[in-house]
Amino acid sequence: MKVTPVSKIVGAEVTGVNLSDPITEDTKRGLRQALLDHQVLVIRDQTLTPPQQVTFSAIWGDLETPSNIDYTTEETPKVMILSNEIRPDGTAVGVVDGGDFWHSDSSHIEVPSAITILQAVKNPERGGDTEFCNMYAIYEALPHDLKQKIDGLYGIHHVSKVKNRRVTISPDRPGAKDFYESSAKAKPEVIQPLVLTHPETGRKSLYCSPRFTIGIQGMSEEEANPILDVLFSHVTDRKRPYHYRHKYQDDDLVMWDNRCLCHRAVGGYGLPDIRRMHRTVIGGDQPYAEQQAT
Ligand code: OGA
Ligand code: MN
Repeated sequence: MKVTPVSKIVGAEVTGVNLSDPITEDTKRGLRQALLDHQVLVIRDQTLTPPQQVTFSAIWGDLETPSNIDYTTEETPKVMILSNEIRPDGTAVGVVDGGDFWHSDSSHIEVPSAITILQAVKNPERGGDTEFCNMYAIYEALPHDLKQKIDGLYGIHHVSKVKNRRVTISPDRPGAKDFYESSAKAKPEVIQPLVLTHPETGRKSLYCSPRFTIGIQGMSEEEANPILDVLFSHVTDRKRPYHYRHKYQDDDLVMWDNRCLCHRAVGGYGLPDIRRMHRTVIGGDQPYAEQQAT
């Protein structure tokens, strides 16, 4: 197995493994260390079937069950489909607008996702990249006084786009507006530390995103928004050195660590050009914070 960084600060390419074979303890250890070191792994030349993807995913921990059963594979309900394909009867094959703003997966629920795995099944001719940014590095580069200010604070997270002035609703997803309007009322706000300590590396990471973080606990909007705007400027400004944009090759399997990264789907493709990804997710621990700035 060979691990080669793809940028200075985030991401590595892995070659020389076949994930459809039984995974040895050595390979498991090597992959886990590579993920902790590089936060995103691009594992080349993998063509896992949905059941094989479930078997591989399970070595990392307990799989989450996708909440939307309309968009899971026929072979197994543990694998969700991301796709822009529409069936002849007009129904969507997969989730079409997944991840369209910078976020960390499911930070809007109490126990968010730890690791997300995408098997590229069909790449579009153009577009369809995924961007990542390293939230350890962003935290470490913040001015000391800002670190001190946010250490110990909690962000307010919510799934509904109608509660969030920083995002818009994609017109491409059927029923999206209704979903976000009803979830604005039905789903609770969840608080998460703005700075978490990664449970495996012990490193501190910024943990908030333009997609899900809509406020700061105990602060008015007028107080919180300028702070969030500064934090999010580091996430969204791709001229800064914390980012990696992944352009998929055929048979890439990409996995990332949500506890120290934000990511987003770049888009830029459209029918008849089809993108299809198979997605599995490993559940995490409740994020926790240490109280001192470093
Ligand atoms: C996700 C996600 C990005 C993409 O699956 O959680 O954000 O490029 N995907 O599909
Ligand atoms: Mn995502």
